[in-house]
Amino acid sequence: RRIGDIVNGSSSSLAFISNMTSLNTLVLRNCRISDTLLSVNFSKFTSLNLLDLSFNNITGQVPQTLLNLNSLGFLFLGNNSLSGSLPSSVGPMLKNLDFSYNQLTGSVPSWARNSQLNLVANNFGA
Ligand SMILES: *[C@@H]1O[C@H](CO)[C@@H](O)[C@H](O)[C@H]1NC(C)=O
Ligand SMILES: *[C@@H]1O[C@H](CO)[C@@H](O)[C@H](O)[C@H]1NC(C)=O
Ligand SMILES: *[C@@H]1O[C@H](CO)[C@@H](O)[C@H](O)[C@H]1NC(C)=O
Ligand SMILES: *[C@@H]1O[C@H](CO)[C@@H](O)[C@H](O)[C@H]1NC(C)=O
Ligand SMILES: *[C@@H]1O[C@H](CO)[C@@H](O)[C@H](O)[C@H]1NC(C)=O
Repeated sequence: RRIGDIVNGSSSSLAFISNMTSLNTLVLRNCRISDTLLSVNFSKFTSLNLLDLSFNNITGQVPQTLLNLNSLGFLFLGNNSLSGSLPSSVGPMLKNLDFSYNQLTGSVPSWARNSQLNLVANNFGA
């Protein structure tokens, strides 16, 4: 199954990427994905450097396992429906993150100070 195929038709789940664990770049912008990040065990994606799931309908929390990936440097999740608070730690490479236009709450985590982090249009406290 080609990745482009999911653009056709109605909304898709994320589970179809579950076995693509050797990818280092995965870009699925505006692919009508309706799912939570918990549908995929990201801890198996040990080579993943860039993940872009912007402009979908991803709901629920951002899992700690995703942020902790050792090789992940770029994480773009803007324009989804993520909720809950951000995990309290990130992996060593993760310096460039975009969570703009979601429904995240809680406080801005302390690791934010060492990263390029876009949080506009959320519901963060102080
Ligand atoms: C994909 O799009 C084509 C052309 O619009 C359509 O004929 C086909 O039924 C669609 N396939 C699925 C699985 O939605
Ligand atoms: C992933 O691989 C396992 C083992 O080969 C298989 O059972 C499972 O159906 C696959 N999952 C997907 C989403 O392709
Ligand atoms: C996720 O994958 C890791 C590494 O393969 C494994 O240790 C863990 O048990 C898996 N978690 C789930 C919920 O399947
Ligand atoms: C987004 O996902 C939620 C939860 O699964 C669903 O209720 C809603 O209809 C979806 N919205 C769109 C535009 O697909
Ligand atoms: C999300 O949508 C807004 C409004 O359409 C847009 O200004 C913004 O650039 C988008 N965010 C991302 C990460 O593309």
